[in-house]
Amino acid sequence: MRLGVLTGGGDCPGLNAVIRAVVRKAVDGYGAEVVGFKDGWRGPLEDLAAPLTIESTRGILPRGGTILGSSRTNVFKRENGPELVRETLQRHELDGLIAIGGEDTLGVAERLGEQGLKLIGIPKTIDNDLGATDQTFGFDTALHVATEAIDRLHTTAESHNRILVVEVMGRSAGWIALHSGIAGGADVILIPEMPFDIDQVCRLISHRHERGRYFSIVVAAEGATPQEGTTMTLQTGETDEFGHPRLGGIGQRLEREIEQRTGYETRATVLGHVQRGGTPTAFDRVLATRLGLAAVDAAHAGRWGTMTALHATDIELVPIAEAVREVRRVPVEEYERYGVLFG
Ligand code: F6P
Repeated sequence: MRLGVLTGGGDCPGLNAVIRAVVRKAVDGYGAEVVGFKDGWRGPLEDLAAPLTIESTRGILPRGGTILGSSRTNVFKRENGPELVRETLQRHELDGLIAIGGEDTLGVAERLGEQGLKLIGIPKTIDNDLGATDQTFGFDTALHVATEAIDRLHTTAESHNRILVVEVMGRSAGWIALHSGIAGGADVILIPEMPFDIDQVCRLISHRHERGRYFSIVVAAEGATPQEGTTMTLQTGETDEFGHPRLGGIGQRLEREIEQRTGYETRATVLGHVQRGGTPTAFDRVLATRLGLAAVDAAHAGRWGTMTALHATDIELVPIAEAVREVRRVPVEEYERYGVLFG
C-alpha cells in the first residue's frame, strides 16, 4: 500500500502527532510507504511531495505546527484543480490520500471523493466545530492556553480595578470562548451563536461594581456579534479562498464601548495565534495518535470517503460528508445553563 498525507487549513497542535502515527502504523503495521504533501491542497495541486519515513518523523510528537506545512488552498478554485490532484496521486502510485483538516480541507476531500478519488479524513481544528465527532484534536490545547491567559488576566484586573476583555478564536462557534470562560471564571462570555446586547453586558459589569467587585473579565469569541440595532461593525471585508471573512477587532470594539458606556477603565487582550501554537496537551497527543492509527486501518480496509471520529471514548468511522454538512455550534441551552455564573 502507498498512502499520501496532507495537513490543510489553520495549523493546530497535534498535527505532527497524527503524521507520526500515520507513518508508524503504515510502515510498521502494514509494510506501506507514505508520501507527505506540502502546504495542504497546494501540495497535490503542484506536486510538492516528499517521502515520509519513521526516521524523518522521529521526535515530532510533542512539536506544535505541522512538519508538512499548511495552507487554505481550495482545489475547486483552481483551473483543472481536481484533475491536477488526480494526476499527482497517479504519478506517485498512491492507493489513497489521508487529508487532515477542518471543514474546508475535508469539504474539498468530500467533493474529490464524489469524483472517485480515494480519501480518508482526519478531523482537526482548535475551534472544535466539526460535525460527526465529539471533539477535534487541538481544541484541548487551545482551551488550556486561553484558560491560563484568563487566570493571569484575572489577577491584574483585580489589582487595577479594570475590565479586561479577552478575545479568543472561534469565528462561527464559541467553544473556546465558552469553555475557557467557564474554566477561568469569566463574568461575561460572548459567543457567535448568541448575539449580544452591549447594554446588557454593561449592566452586568456595573452591577458587579455596585456589589463591590470593581473588576470584570469579559471573554469574547472573535466571531461574537452585537444584536441587530446596534452600530458596531466588525469585519475587515477581506475573505480567504473559502469565502470566510477575516475577523478581528471585537476585543478592541468592546474595550471602547464598555469604557465609554460604564466609565470604568477597560483593556483588551487578543490571544490570536498564541492559541494555535506550541506543544499539544497530553490529551491532544493521544487523540491525534488514535485518529491517525485508525485512519491507516481505514485506508487498509478500503473504507474510502470516511473520516475517523471520536464518539464518547471510541474512535469510529463516519462519512466525511457527515462531518462537513454543518458547523457544530454551541447549543443555546448549553450556553444558558451557565447563566447563573455570569455577572
Ligand atoms: O480555523 C482555525 C482558526 O484558528 C479560527 O479560529 C480562526 O478564525 C482562523 O483559524 C484564523 O485563520 P488565519 O490564521 O488564517 O488568520
